[in-house]
Amino acid sequence: MQVTLKTLLCGLRALIDQHPIAEGRLGIQDNACAAIDEAIAQHIWPEPEGSPSPLSKPFVDVMTSRTAHNICQDILQIPFSWAPPNTSDNPLYVAHSHSKAHVELLGPQGIITSQKIRLGLYGILPDSEYGIRTHPAEEIFIMLAGEAEWLRGDDDYQLKKAGGYAYHPSMMPHATRTRHSAFMSVYIWTGDVSTDGYRYFGVTNAD
Ligand SMILES: [Fe+2]
Repeated sequence: MQVTLKTLLCGLRALIDQHPIAEGRLGIQDNACAAIDEAIAQHIWPEPEGSPSPLSKPFVDVMTSRTAHNICQDILQIPFSWAPPNTSDNPLYVAHSHSKAHVELLGPQGIITSQKIRLGLYGILPDSEYGIRTHPAEEIFIMLAGEAEWLRGDDDYQLKKAGGYAYHPSMMPHATRTRHSAFMSVYIWTGDVSTDGYRYFGVTNAD
């Protein structure tokens, strides 16, 4: 079966809808499902913009490993233009973003436009650190492949593998780092999805 953007969004909807959350089901899951339903009902399927820019080998390696979520196979079949995100023009943010691969599927800059949500795919190469940041949007990353360490608020870094997640209420400081493995995830922003209030504070010295 040919994988289309619609196929992928349907798969992501099911994954987000059914994903177990320790705190109990989150409103962000309902918001994401509603936004995907709206996009599917709209039935306008733009081609991904820009020339295809494939994922590099470390991403493909983790996405084709036996521990990866099956949806990674679908993601790999769509010729996205993978690129670092442009959430901020802060030079430190830009310098720390070379190791990131990102596609916004739904959102103000998404392949499908939405002003209510940002939903996309996000990965970071091995041996990278994406430091402390805050933003008004409520956010969740659901890990699809590989592994990464996530810092939330005042907690220590915690290792998250495929099937894990990192949930960040509005304005909660959070950070991400990778060791020997890349990771790929699906992320959701809801609430105030503008990037105007995004702040990047850089890397930490925490172990
Ligand atoms: Fe974030």
